Amino acid sequence: MSEVRIRPRQVLVLIIVFLVVLMMVHRNGKRTCQGPDYLQAIYAQQQADTLPTIYAITPTYYRPAQKAELTRLSHLFMLLPHLHWIIVEDSNTTTPLVKNLLQRAGLEKRSTQLNIKTPPEFKLQGKDPNWIKPRGVEQRNLALSWLRSHVDVDRHSIVFFMDDDNSYSTELFAEISKIQRGRVGVWPVGLVGGLMVEKPILNEDGTQVTGFNAAWRPERPFPIDMAAFAISMDLFIRNPQAIFSYEVQRGYQESEILRHLTTRDQLQPLANACRDVLVWHTRTEKTKLTAEVALQKQNKHSDAGMEV
Ligand code: UGA
Ligand code: MN
Repeated sequence: MSEVRIRPRQVLVLIIVFLVVLMMVHRNGKRTCQGPDYLQAIYAQQQADTLPTIYAITPTYYRPAQKAELTRLSHLFMLLPHLHWIIVEDSNTTTPLVKNLLQRAGLEKRSTQLNIKTPPEFKLQGKDPNWIKPRGVEQRNLALSWLRSHVDVDRHSIVFFMDDDNSYSTELFAEISKIQRGRVGVWPVGLVGGLMVEKPILNEDGTQVTGFNAAWRPERPFPIDMAAFAISMDLFIRNPQAIFSYEVQRGYQESEILRHLTTRDQLQPLANACRDVLVWHTRTEKTKLTAEVALQKQNKHSDAGMEV
């Protein structure tokens, strides 16, 4: 009868093989989403450290749907490792709501939480929540001054003004990454200005902007929405006078900032020669809380002890 003897060397080899297999399984499990090609390309470029950082500036203010809006955005940031979120609260202090949200999304290291309150005289009180002045002015200017004193000017980076209520595709950020030093990238925006899509009009080979299709105030120097462009950071360094202003009519903020930084013929068309819509100017309906108000009259709250 032959005896099967296991030698200590064989045991060692088996243990090593087992450990290697375990490590491979573990690494596969940890891989961030097996998403579409453009996301895989972004992850590869991020690893190689060849992607410019995109600084997304978001003014935000308290209303019942704030956390829902910011949660949607935070998930976009979780998918895109080269984004840095500068979130500027329209309030006297930064709030735990925003701080917790950034923490829960794991964004503490690539976000900056600031605050500055819009002077109350600029907000029209009463039934109509419309403003007499442009929104987000104070907040975006604070973020710009933070950027001017914190970014490494030798490294190419890009600034994008990102409202908290729009809908953004991850693909848009793959496009924004293509913006060259010294240039402003532009693309179409869906559901804005009374049209299905507002878009730049290009020359025959799709390399230069020759006009815009805007129906609302087409006479504006740059008749586009805030979501329609992003800017190479070096332009802000070279043009310290470029800031937002209350002294312009609503709808002129985009033109106000861009006139300091670029001209129409220098714009860089993106998103498949401006044929793709990758961002939509959605607006969330005002939350109806009639039953909550009735509860409050009895000193009760449906959200007692909860953050909604
Ligand atoms: C349009 C543009 O898309 C905005 O980028 C631009 O700031 C605005 O018009 C304007 O020129 O006033 P719209 O949907 O009308 O956007 O504006 P909101 O989305 O209500 O506000 C723009 C940003 O400012 C949002 O991120 C919002 O959270 C913030 N905001 C609004 C404040 O920080 N405080 C407020 O009281 C109101
Ligand atoms: Mn909006």
